[in-house]
Parts: sequence; C-alpha cells; structure tokens
Amino acid sequence: MKSSIKAAKRTLINNRRLNYTLPTNTKLYPAQWNWDSAFIALGYSNFNLDYSFKEIETLISGQWDDGMIPHILFHIKNLNYTPNYKAWNCGKKVSSSGITQPPILASILRLIIERKKFPKKKIIEYSSLILKIKKYLEWFIRYRDPKNTGLISILHPWESGYDNSPLWDKPMSRIKIENNLIYKRKDNKIVKASQRPLKIDYDRYVTIKNDLKKMNYDPKKLYFKSKFNVVDVGFNSLFLKASKDLVFLLEKINKSSNFLNKYNLLNEQKLIKLFNLKKMKFYNKDLKNNTLIEIPSITNFFMLFADIKSDLVNRNLIKSLKKYYKKEKFLFPSIKSNHKLFEEKRYWRGPVWINCNWIIYQGLKKKDKKFAEIIRKKTINLVEKKKFREYYSCKTGLGMGAKNFSWSAALYLDLKLNRT
Ligand code: DGY
Repeated sequence: MKSSIKAAKRTLINNRRLNYTLPTNTKLYPAQWNWDSAFIALGYSNFNLDYSFKEIETLISGQWDDGMIPHILFHIKNLNYTPNYKAWNCGKKVSSSGITQPPILASILRLIIERKKFPKKKIIEYSSLILKIKKYLEWFIRYRDPKNTGLISILHPWESGYDNSPLWDKPMSRIKIENNLIYKRKDNKIVKASQRPLKIDYDRYVTIKNDLKKMNYDPKKLYFKSKFNVVDVGFNSLFLKASKDLVFLLEKINKSSNFLNKYNLLNEQKLIKLFNLKKMKFYNKDLKNNTLIEIPSITNFFMLFADIKSDLVNRNLIKSLKKYYKKEKFLFPSIKSNHKLFEEKRYWRGPVWINCNWIIYQGLKKKDKKFAEIIRKKTINLVEKKKFREYYSCKTGLGMGAKNFSWSAALYLDLKLNRT
C-alpha cells in the first residue's frame, strides 16, 4: 500500500532529531538506542542515504575509548527517562548508559553497502567507520569472553534488547535487590503497566546497574563481578553475523583482523552446541549460577541469521521454527504461546516484534525462499493493518506498547521495498 509507505517514511522523519532518531516520539524512549538506530538507518537507506549514514555516525560518536558503543546515548539532557543520564553517570563526552546492545550495526552497514553497490573507492571513504566497528566487535571478544570460551556474555538483561524475556527469569531470581533502592519509573505512566516489565524486574535492573556503576563500568572487572552473566543464543548469533559481515567489509578496504577471523570459527563451533539437534532444543548458559536455561524464545532462531555453514543444523533449525509457530495467526510470538511463561501482552514475554521477524526473514531468504516469503508477507500485512506499534498480539494482532515506533516503520519499509 502506497499510503503505508508514505506513513512509514513520515514516522521516521517525525521521530528524527539532530542527526539521530528516537525509537518513538511518544516520550517513552527520549534518546538514541543502539540497535534501534541500526534498524532505523536501514529504513532510511530506502529513501535517504544521507540520513542513514548520519544515524550511524551519530551512534558511533558515542563510542567509548575502550571500544564499547553504549546501548543508549543521551544527546539531550532529558531527565524524563529512568535511569537517566545522571543515574548512569558514565562521565563520557557523550552521556550514555554503561552497557551495550546487540551489534547488528555491522550487518546493517554491509547490507546497505551491498544493496547500493558501492564501488570499492566509495567503501574506502567509510574506512574510519568500519575500523571503529572493528574496535567495537573486538571489545566483545576481549571483555565479554576474557577466558576465550568462544561465547560472548551479556551482563545485564537490557544488553540483549529483550529486557524482560522469560530467558532471564532464573538468573534474575537469584539477584538480591539492593537495600533502600531509590528510583522512579516513567515508562508505566506512558504505556499501560500491564504491557511493561514488573516492578520486581525494574528493582533488579536498577540493582545490577548500580553495581556496575560501583565498579566504574571497568570492562576488565565486570565480566567476573557482575551479578548477571549469561551466554545467550540470540545475542551470540547476532554477534557472529556482525563479525562475519565486518570481516567482509574489512576486505573491501584492504584490511583484515586475525582476531575476528579466529574468533568467528570458535564462536560458530560453540554456538552450534547450544542447539541440541536430537531434542531440537536451545540452551542458554547462566554462567553466574552455572546452570542451563531452556526457554522457547524466538530469539533462539536468530541462529538462522548467523549463516552457520552446516546444512544439517540449518535444516533442523527451520523444521523447529515451523513447529514453533504452527498454530499462530500472527507471526512470531516472542515466546512460544503454549509455554507456561508466555504472556500475550507483556513486552518481551509473548508479543510479536517486527525486528525479530526481519532478522529471521534475512536468515531464511537464501535457505527456504518460500517460508521467507510467507514471513515477509505476514509481517507486512500486520503492520499495514495495525500501524507502526512497538509490538503486537500474536492472537489478535492488537498493536501495543509505544505508537509511531521507528523500527517497525523502518523494517516495514525495508521488507516492502526489498527482497534482498
Ligand atoms: C526500556 O527502557 O524499556 C529499554 O528497553 C531499556 O533499554
């Protein structure tokens, strides 16, 4: 529908501030978010390449000296978000949070460059951008897998981007809430509380954050001391794909990274082991408590996006994904809907998310074209009917969370206007 394409572009433009874009203009997220921005940059690439690169450059402008690109950049000193820039208090030139998010930026950059068929000379103009992303990915290996196990850890549920997923219930249940915790939520005044994380979740989010802050966000200490340390299938899949895509971009600018090359091989080997082929089940690892986590989350299927070389694994992943959504009217619930922890309306505990559908579509388009096309069409239909919401019910398609949600608009545009 032409009018939906126009509306998607308008949504992005309305949410745009000075060279970056808010996830929504409804006050829920008044800053620049890491993975949101990458998806947004891809959306812009369908009608304004200049805005795409501005978005990416602004995101990278918040990179820390050690290489990390934070999960939130507070370009404007807005106190109407919890925890705000003062609560994080990172002391960097661009105010930010002290944790990161999935580094999908590298994959988005490659996709834009390939689609636009940039000649080598033009790619070389982006060398400094590419090298900064290299430093970011190397940061993960250095500080989030200091024992070189082959798997990257996240140290806060917010780092996954799927904040209150049941994936984190067990490790979170072990976290003792700080005494006399003081903070005031804003989110559940803007969006229905029944669609947002619970108070107990926030108590723990803030407890972990305060603890990281006490260690001055020193990356050398955090892996060993954080109250939360989990190896997540989805996160590692996005990391591996990002790292493979960055190696591709490095070659284009006549550079390489043995560090990334070597790690990618190990990472792929270890990632595959998190999927049990016989039982067709995924396992996350809670390193803090030395236990396995087994939750049917759509993010586990990000493994398809990682372009694992084994056909056997890919075939079984696809078979398992088809079972996962079998009875669903709207694709894909973030948690399998017959699971006891599934909640139809609560944020990452069940609703459909457009970025998950886009990631899986990308993973499938060369492996199972027919299935990929079903996902593309169903996602487009849902967004055209229910507009650019943050998430949707898998039962009724009801739009929930924030309105005018940037990545839903950006990825709708991308699915509608591209098949590559
Ligand atoms: C939020 O505020 O809910 C964000 O997801 C945290 O990154």
